Amino acid sequence: MKFSTPVAFAILASIASALPAYKFPVDEPVSASDPKTIVLSNDDGWQALNIRATYRELTNAGYQVILSAPASQRSGWSGRFVLPTNTTMSTGGEFNYPPAGSPSWGHEENDTSIWYFDGTPASSVAFALEYLVPNYYNNTKVDLVVNGPNEGLNVSPGMFTISGTISATYNSVYRGVPAVAFSGSNGNNSFFADFADQEDDENLAANIYAKKVTEFVDALFKGAGDEYELLPVTTGLNVNFPKVGHDNESCTDPSWVYTRLSGKGSYAADLKYDEDSKLFVWTNGYYEPMTEKIFGIKTLQSEAEIINDDNCQTAVSAFSIDYDASVEQNEYIQQSLQGLF
Ligand SMILES: *[C@@H]1O[C@H](CO)[C@@H](O)[C@H](O)[C@H]1NC(C)=O
Ligand SMILES: *[C@@H]1O[C@H](CO)[C@@H](O)[C@H](O)[C@H]1NC(C)=O
Ligand SMILES: *[C@@H]1O[C@H](CO)[C@@H](O)[C@H](O)[C@H]1NC(C)=O
Ligand SMILES: *[C@@H]1O[C@H](CO)[C@@H](O)[C@H](O)[C@H]1NC(C)=O
Ligand SMILES: *[C@@H]1O[C@H](CO)[C@@H](O)[C@H](O)[C@H]1NC(C)=O
Repeated sequence: MKFSTPVAFAILASIASALPAYKFPVDEPVSASDPKTIVLSNDDGWQALNIRATYRELTNAGYQVILSAPASQRSGWSGRFVLPTNTTMSTGGEFNYPPAGSPSWGHEENDTSIWYFDGTPASSVAFALEYLVPNYYNNTKVDLVVNGPNEGLNVSPGMFTISGTISATYNSVYRGVPAVAFSGSNGNNSFFADFADQEDDENLAANIYAKKVTEFVDALFKGAGDEYELLPVTTGLNVNFPKVGHDNESCTDPSWVYTRLSGKGSYAADLKYDEDSKLFVWTNGYYEPMTEKIFGIKTLQSEAEIINDDNCQTAVSAFSIDYDASVEQNEYIQQSLQGLF
């Protein structure tokens, strides 16, 4: 996916001045009738309830979905890029699904759209984009990578680097494929097969999240149209759902709020020494730099604020993988180090 040329953008801007800024035309618009192709991954594993419910909803909505996720629970594995070291697995996947001795990558017996890869979230996405798409999908264009919904929230810059679900997302973004990370407030390790009889339970959190993911993806495609890039290059989205359904009966259809990743209430991993166990325990650390608003829209509420408010709202934040510091910050640093250059 290439970035539009400034010339094309200028021409477009002159004929369509009503368009918001930063609508980037695609090089080769596809026919609106072509089904959109979505790669779906996560860090909880291919057998997690949330990802299977989302696979079902997106497929029912008419998307071509390629599910490709780790064979095992890989929460908190960050951007580690681990590949299988053997063609077969010496231990089983999560819930022993698939069992030990299975091939290190494979698909559901009767469904070549649902794959596991004995790796990490980041490498599972690469497996889909670099191996499955050319070998099984005729090199079709992947329009979007959806990750999750994660079992558990991924809020604040502190979780950005730790979460496998978010890392699968930025791994897609740096490949030039638009991507969104979704995270739920239903944090347990669930096996989809245990919930086979609950596909119609309208209050099962996984089912509500799956419907909300589909609503969001529909809106994203509709908003961009077929002529434009889904998201500006270098950007991705981080979406966090509140407790819903059986976890909070008064919230079954959360609304959307556009937020920022950093800002008030933002936190990161920290530790505390525990005298009793003589070990360290994980705590949430709150630090001034996390609340700084240097980039982005400074008036937006932080996703931490929205999620902590617990007001049946879903936080939607945009991030950029252009990790460079601002011009002013660079100049300050260059000045400090001027003896060196
Ligand atoms: C690879 O897996 C096979 C079959 O389980 C096993 O016999 C072999 O020792 C494994 N190789 C390595 C390097 O672990
Ligand atoms: C796959 O299809 C075959 C043939 O219809 C059937 O016997 C088998 O039970 C199916 N496997 C699963 C996991 O559904
Ligand atoms: C694969 O793509 C090529 C080129 O776009 C096309 O001609 C061909 O029909 C496609 N094959 C299948 C099986 O979709
Ligand atoms: C996960 O949550 C569901 C629904 O609340 C519950 O039925 C299930 O037992 C839980 N699983 C685990 C592993 O805690
Ligand atoms: C449930 O959601 C409502 C808003 O719909 C909120 O006021 C309440 O605090 C939530 N309760 C729990 C236990 O999460």
